[in-house]
Amino acid sequence: MTQTAAVSFTAHDLDAIAEATGRTALIVPPEGTLSRAGRRINRLTRGALARLVESEAFGKAEPGTVISLNWPTGMAAEALDIVILPRRPEMEALREAGATLGKALGDKPLLILGPSQRLPELIEACVLRAYAYTDQKTDTPKTPGAITAQVSNPEEMQARTADLLSVAEGVFFTRDLVNAPANVLTTTTFADQLKDLESIGLKVEVLEEAELEKLGMGALLAVGQGSDSPSKVVVMQWTGGGDEAPLALVGKGVVFDTGGISLKPAGGMEDMTMDMGGAGTVAGAMKALALRKARANVVGLVGLVENMPSGNAMRPGDVVTSMKGDTIEVTNTDAEGRLVLCDVMWYAQDRFKPAGLIDLATLTGAIIIGLGHHNAGVFSTDDALCNGLIKSAEAVGEGAWRMPLGKAYAKQLKSRIADTNNIGGRPAGSITAAEFLRRFVKEETPWAHIDIAGVASVKADTTFAPTGATGWGVRALDRLVRDRFEAE
Ligand code: BES
Ligand code: MN
Ligand code: ZN
Repeated sequence: MTQTAAVSFTAHDLDAIAEATGRTALIVPPEGTLSRAGRRINRLTRGALARLVESEAFGKAEPGTVISLNWPTGMAAEALDIVILPRRPEMEALREAGATLGKALGDKPLLILGPSQRLPELIEACVLRAYAYTDQKTDTPKTPGAITAQVSNPEEMQARTADLLSVAEGVFFTRDLVNAPANVLTTTTFADQLKDLESIGLKVEVLEEAELEKLGMGALLAVGQGSDSPSKVVVMQWTGGGDEAPLALVGKGVVFDTGGISLKPAGGMEDMTMDMGGAGTVAGAMKALALRKARANVVGLVGLVENMPSGNAMRPGDVVTSMKGDTIEVTNTDAEGRLVLCDVMWYAQDRFKPAGLIDLATLTGAIIIGLGHHNAGVFSTDDALCNGLIKSAEAVGEGAWRMPLGKAYAKQLKSRIADTNNIGGRPAGSITAAEFLRRFVKEETPWAHIDIAGVASVKADTTFAPTGATGWGVRALDRLVRDRFEAE
């Protein structure tokens, strides 16, 4: 498990500045006014800071920019990071600045000095961006440097930052799961890691194949039948609320997607180790809610399977029967995620009668064509839930964009021999996938489906994460719970 950086707040202490090792970050407003700490640093560095602040580069820099001085004279620090931020910074500039500090954090300490407006969010971005997946490296430091900030109100700041750090732990959990290779994260080791969440107060059940068969999850089981790894459904319950119906989160957990008999091409197939991204996000969100002791009832369910070709694998043309009872003609075994989700979604509604149902899945390549890597696709039959979700995502800086549903799209799924087909042809591939799922949503359930194929793992750095798993959605879901499902 990748550790989040330790964060602490202390009272102002000018004498500690010269001795601080690692990096020291000083927040300076665009006007260049120096705080007491700034004036101390200017003296220590024999006027270097004043020269920097008066420079053309400083004058031209956008808010959120960080200018670094390496090995500053008069200080033990190996770098002095000048963070240009107005007293009331825009969230975007604040996050950019925090992320720049996080990217440079490494395993050495970081001291942050400056006006404390929105410091919790700056530190949140710093902690999130300081992530590195090192589980498979033998010679890399595993503990990030500790972050200390000098403020006038340390206790208040610590309290205001605590929940953000709990959620960051959830994000790291998701990233570790999504980054893990498929020989390491099997359905069994995945379920084991979820079972461990009991130590933070979640109730966790692992349903094994025999149980899933009894429940009639013929669609989910068909996907996993070609793999030597057993299929599982894991149910995680957080009951921090009263006796109200829970919010249900459902995640696609395909630990590796070869495509099955409809085999994917070799180039890029290795990326399909992230095809459990939906399940990873649900797991991270549940961890976040438990760590910050959310006053809400939320249940997370994940379908864990591996999609492999073998002598026992599901064939194109097979007809499988879902838990709902609908029969599905499997024209393409690579459209497996929806087969997993439809059974878990049905089970979630059947058992928990949830107040809302949100499923997350790396479901279609088509959503990447539509929205690229900057927005997840949101499909919903409930405007209130959908708008809440999109608002929450926006508030935490995660992109989400609503996509349409519609009968005409659903028609593309018609099967000659079964109740439905599992694919709807090339046009609107993400929407027909969502329409397939809609079949398995009960009339009374407010539902949203989030296709995270483009955002769960990316090939370039984002504000909050290095290349690889982003943990997209953990913070948005946490925020949604906080704003819409939590008692005041
Ligand atoms: N796991 C993939 C979708 C995916 C693609 C996720 C790229 C992340 C990156 C999914 O199971 C899949 O294979 N979908 C097919 C559906 C098609 C056969 C209808 C696709 O998108 O090509
Ligand atoms: Mn597939
Ligand atoms: Zn898949």
